[in-house]
Amino acid sequence: MKTALLIDSTIRGKDSRTRKLLEAFADHLSPAYKQDRLILTEEALQPLTGDFFRSRQELLEEGRLDHPRFRYARQFQQADLIVIAAPFWDLSFPALLKIYLENISLDGITFLSTADGLKGNCRAGEMIYLTTRGGFYHDSQDEQASPYLKSLCRMFGIPEFAMVDADGLDVAGYDGEEALNEGICQAAQLAASLC
Ligand SMILES: Cc1cc2nc3c(=O)[nH]c(=O)nc-3n(C[C@H](O)[C@H](O)[C@H](O)COP(=O)(O)O)c2cc1C
Repeated sequence: MKTALLIDSTIRGKDSRTRKLLEAFADHLSPAYKQDRLILTEEALQPLTGDFFRSRQELLEEGRLDHPRFRYARQFQQADLIVIAAPFWDLSFPALLKIYLENISLDGITFLSTADGLKGNCRAGEMIYLTTRGGFYHDSQDEQASPYLKSLCRMFGIPEFAMVDADGLDVAGYDGEEALNEGICQAAQLAASLC
């Protein structure tokens, strides 16, 4: 059985509209996928600072990649499909997701340093990014989340990247509800298209 890792990086819990895209995706994904869901607000994630950073470097130098603290990286590396749901914040995504990404970007697990440069080491064939935005940023050069996630895919060796985005949800006079429903449909269709 294949594994889909659903990384819920929403912050507003049941009020989150981005989470609605994720729920639609999860509901329409083939049962051929086992779904592993990570709700980042419920995980004890730490940024890489102080002793937490130093001990990581020591563990890496000792080659102790099986240490429990690297479990997020191993889980990410082994998934067949990666789905990230994150609201659009400050032209990118919430810092909590960056902390998660810091914790999974690990030489020897998700990528390998070689004489020819970095080589991706993840199993997934695709990363799917689900987001909602207050304003209109689709195709804007100020939209900094998807270019970064695409670059990470290259670094991790994930060949495909797809995005479902619902824009303009907080714009006065714009039908944000319809935009959200359209995004929900797109997320459902994308999930249903995967086998
Ligand atoms: C801290 C914060 C920062 C935000 N930054 C932006 C932004 O830079 N551009 C934008 O269009 N909307 C921004 N928004 C609005 C959100 O993108 C929008 O409300 C989104 O739908 C929130 O998703 P959620 O319902 O899943 O929480 C921001 C909202 C918050 C709370």
